[in-house]
Amino acid sequence: MENLKKEIEQLKQEKNAVLLAHYYVDDAVQEIADYVGDSYYLAKVALKESKDVICFAGVNFMGESAKILNPDRTVIMPDQKADCPMAHMVDVEKIEEMRKKYDDLAVVCYINSTAEIKAHSDVCVTSSNALKVVTALPQKNIFFVPDENLGRYIGSKLPEKNFIYNDGFCHVHRSITAENVKKAKEVHPEAEVLVHPECTPDVVALGDYVGSTSGIIDYATASDKDVFIICTEMGVLYELKQKNPGKTFYSVGHRQFCPNMKRISLENVRDTLRDMKNQVELPEELRLNAKKALDEMLRIAQ
Ligand code: 13P
Ligand code: SF4
Repeated sequence: MENLKKEIEQLKQEKNAVLLAHYYVDDAVQEIADYVGDSYYLAKVALKESKDVICFAGVNFMGESAKILNPDRTVIMPDQKADCPMAHMVDVEKIEEMRKKYDDLAVVCYINSTAEIKAHSDVCVTSSNALKVVTALPQKNIFFVPDENLGRYIGSKLPEKNFIYNDGFCHVHRSITAENVKKAKEVHPEAEVLVHPECTPDVVALGDYVGSTSGIIDYATASDKDVFIICTEMGVLYELKQKNPGKTFYSVGHRQFCPNMKRISLENVRDTLRDMKNQVELPEELRLNAKKALDEMLRIAQ
């Protein structure tokens, strides 16, 4: 493993590349990444990055967003099959239908979406900025795509808006049940429950804190409590433990494992950098249209 890491370091120098990783990828990849973070942080890093090559250890929509924001860089993906199923759970026809049905409508798309959906939306959001962004929108009607659970969480905070939900979901977060949380609380009554808003509303209701992966890490780090029940993909445990060696973290269930994020390995990071393969390419018109929704998010959320 150490040799592989050295090889990756050398390749990064040789190709003038930066390695970005999401908190859900394997510990070994997080360990060697130049930047690790949530979706919003990584989008901002991609925007300001000046290296020639961005190697994105994450799922497709992340690399796509990096390319949309940074067309002059080469963006490569360690595994092109690492895709987020939720990103495909809405289609353009449904968006067009809502635009016909409602006046004064904003189409808000979670960054976990395809470039095509972004191109047909008014603004993008991530789990860490969705509340701020939607609050700032002048429109009363909000069509929130593709994730119903994040939409419902934000909708519950903004009763003055009329939310229309789409039935997309993350299978990893949906597999966490309220029963799982209650049982974990029985075993560890002193623990605080930290929940990602992609979880179902009954799980969100049990959270002492609800927020993005970075939000969960920051909350646990600042908290004076020592024990936590974590309701999100288990990859966050790496950073949680790095930052809080004296604290204890329990993963709430046994299936909090995103098979797509876990496709990224040291081997495919090395191979991709070495061969400069799996480059993200987008038709220019699509890129420019999708960029408007990302730019709008960056403008409002800053
Ligand atoms: P955040 O890291 O933005 O909370 O997103 C979670 C996620 O599901 C990424 O796929
Ligand atoms: Fe998609 Fe869920 Fe995996 Fe995130 S954890 S990439 S939302 S399937």
